[in-house]
Amino acid sequence: MKILIYLISFIFFCAPGFAENKENTNGTMEKKVKMILDLDTGIDDALALAYALADPKIELIGIVASYGNVTTEKSAVNSLNILNLLHRKDIPVYIGADKALNKEDVFTVLDISKHIHGENGVGNVKIPESPRTAEKQSGVDFMIESAKKYGKDLYIVAVGPSTNLTEAIRKEPELKNMVGKVVIMGGALIVKGNVSLVAEANIHQDPFAANELFISGTPLTMVGLDVTLRTLLTKKETRLWRELGTVSGKIFADMVDFYIEAYNKSTHELKGCGLHDPLAVAVAVHPELVKVLTLHMQVGTDEKDWGRTVAITEKLNDPDPNVSVCVDVKVDDFMKFFMDHLTALFKAN
Ligand code: BDR
Ligand code: CA
Repeated sequence: MKILIYLISFIFFCAPGFAENKENTNGTMEKKVKMILDLDTGIDDALALAYALADPKIELIGIVASYGNVTTEKSAVNSLNILNLLHRKDIPVYIGADKALNKEDVFTVLDISKHIHGENGVGNVKIPESPRTAEKQSGVDFMIESAKKYGKDLYIVAVGPSTNLTEAIRKEPELKNMVGKVVIMGGALIVKGNVSLVAEANIHQDPFAANELFISGTPLTMVGLDVTLRTLLTKKETRLWRELGTVSGKIFADMVDFYIEAYNKSTHELKGCGLHDPLAVAVAVHPELVKVLTLHMQVGTDEKDWGRTVAITEKLNDPDPNVSVCVDVKVDDFMKFFMDHLTALFKAN
């Protein structure tokens, strides 16, 4: 009987979904951060999801689906399929907003998104279908409920449009002070945009939501193109995943090769694809990877500056700026975290 109890507690505490804390190499316990990912899944969103599962500092407690690279419905399905592929059926997926705040029309996927992420969002690669479906509770309510439950232990990382976050703060204004961290992938302070001269894709989708989030005073980290276009992945790395000989290694290599090809054809003359979304997840738990400028920020909503993320001139000398804008990144350190964690994950799946 005693042996049976030991066995049950061993299985319970050692199962991946229940692994709350992990022992450091120096023998001390490291507390994991609870994380919600808001994804418009998307190839680099899939990489962000894989990174969150693989970094020992993170306990992913749920995913909120957003429109963006694909529709919200497709984003949820893609996330469920990736979780299934990586044997993490314990992580729930919730449905978020299906279009921008001020939009009346049904959301349609932009041609540029199809070009970068494929018609199905995952590089037209076939991923085995998950037997699970999304949860009944709304993504916005899940964010609020989790903020109340976990407080400062909760980090929210949104790597699609800001619509869900802004709706959550509208519904529960205290959310911005409750949680430990809010990180977004979006915007461009120093470099030009990727869908227009001034706008980055996530902010371009819903500049009203992003502006409301920026000026709400929410302590925010902005991981924009200024840093994400420095962290590039090439076919040299995807070959390593393919050579693992595992199902997930092959699927991720196929997806990312599609993404790299799309980057090769696009106007950015970069030698690889931008690791936008996984960098945002990594920065949330490894802030030492980046240098930031703290600013009061706003987002343009006029036709000429639609989606432009810029500091508020009149507030340059005001105290307590709420947005930490990442302006430099330790590329080699991040690439090492990224490759070490993801290769280990794909080797095991
Ligand atoms: C961002 O836009 C989307 O295409 C990517 O998933 C990323 O979140 C980069 O501008
Ligand atoms: Ca994204």
